[in-house]
Amino acid sequence: MDTSSLPPVQEPERQYYFLKKAKELVQAKSEELGRPLTACTTTFGCQMNARDSEKLAGILREVGYVETENEEADFVIYNTCTVRENANLRVYGRLGVLHGYKKKNPHMKIALCGCMMQEATVVDKLQKSYRFVDLIFGTHNIFKFAELLVSTLESDRMIIDIWKDTNQIVEDLPIERKYAFKSGVNIMFGCNNFCSYCIVPYVRGRERSREPQDIIREIEGLVKDGVVEVMLLGQNVNSYGKNLEQPVTFAELLEEIEKIEGLERIRFMTSHPKDLSDDLIRVMAKSKKICKHFHLPLQSGSSRILKIMNRRYTKEQYLELARKLREQVPDIALTTDIIVGFPGETEEDFQETLDVVRKVRYDSAFTFIYSKRTGTPAAVMEDQVPEEVVKDRFDRLLKEVQEISKEMAERFTGREELVLVEEVNGQMEGYVTGRLSNNHVVHFQGDASLVGQIVKVRLDECRGFYYMGSRIE
Ligand code: SAH
Ligand code: SF4
Ligand code: F3S
Repeated sequence: MDTSSLPPVQEPERQYYFLKKAKELVQAKSEELGRPLTACTTTFGCQMNARDSEKLAGILREVGYVETENEEADFVIYNTCTVRENANLRVYGRLGVLHGYKKKNPHMKIALCGCMMQEATVVDKLQKSYRFVDLIFGTHNIFKFAELLVSTLESDRMIIDIWKDTNQIVEDLPIERKYAFKSGVNIMFGCNNFCSYCIVPYVRGRERSREPQDIIREIEGLVKDGVVEVMLLGQNVNSYGKNLEQPVTFAELLEEIEKIEGLERIRFMTSHPKDLSDDLIRVMAKSKKICKHFHLPLQSGSSRILKIMNRRYTKEQYLELARKLREQVPDIALTTDIIVGFPGETEEDFQETLDVVRKVRYDSAFTFIYSKRTGTPAAVMEDQVPEEVVKDRFDRLLKEVQEISKEMAERFTGREELVLVEEVNGQMEGYVTGRLSNNHVVHFQGDASLVGQIVKVRLDECRGFYYMGSRIE
């Protein structure tokens, strides 16, 4: 038997085989239609999804699609999120619009992937009521997108491929970066924490860390390619490396990354307070590259609620971490995530949350209304808080958070800071927009030639959530 035309079993070789095949199919279709084929990737959810989308876009480009932001395209893929109910509702809403486009363009292919697809009820619903979707896959097999793409291009049936979990990490597939000068880098996948409200561990599977040398090699490659800032990504970066054959701590990983020549800035997301070590704070305090920004999700300020949330820290332990960070890393910006209306939350519990907000004085905070996620322990807890009570607490929290972040931002006015220029300002002609180490945004006069450069800027005026500045040559 001639086996030379059979796909290899090994990864990533297997995907490279399918990439070539997909390229031929796209080229043939394009010749038939007498025009290039277009593809649109739409991302919902967190930075991890954004990074995954760069992998999808990389493959679509590699096989010959022309990227477009217009969803009236030949191939549209939604990388979905299911962390809160409204994320799901948005996807269903927009699928209706895509159906309209598909009626006009019968060659159109619609694909869905990401966290929402890991829920059986979602896939059932799609199978019943959204027959026009061509391809559905999940979070664990995204590395085989090229292979799934070939199946879809060769078939008119709805293709569904969902894995329950995986321990596989496939390296070295093509990626199309959104920004030339900064990039996300996955350091781990999945989550083992099972906070009682959260669906992520169910849809992203168990925690797996990448080998440090794979991470370093990827960052070195990015730097050669012009990247000056990396964002290390994981659901709980503080527990990085614990399960590797040769365990490595997150603090040790950071020290290794710091040594990479040409890399200017290091960010990371997200940190779970229960695993935040003194070592990490020490490494941050002496680092020249780690940005002075720490995102430390609080979720609730009530130790009683934190316990039911299965967060495994108390209000006092959290406050102590925040104190240490502010003390040992001067000028650090602290940001957080807070959930309002977790089952059983009383006004007293909520006051504890407000108390932490006032004590820590966050530079900014994302506030969420608790959303019931089927399959999580919290979904079946009694005492779900009535909607109007939650809404009222949410408004009070938001007001407090916003007032404090405005006051906090004022403390940097007048300073001279290094800024990574990210883009030409879309609203103000002749201006560019950049980011400080502490993640604040500043607008100042400049042109496209500055994008990707780190320049010195004086922060002339604070306008609440951003600064107006001027460049210092
Ligand atoms: N791994 C990160 C969080 C990822 S989800 C961490 O542990 O910090 C991002 C944020 O969404 C969470 O911090 C939480 O505030 C919020 N979130 C998660 N599940 C939620 C739910 N069921 N309802 C409302 N907000 C939720
Ligand atoms: Fe969800 Fe908790 Fe894991 Fe974060 S640490 S992803 S909140 S289960
Ligand atoms: Fe959403 Fe999945 Fe991220 S559920 S928040 S996209 S890990």
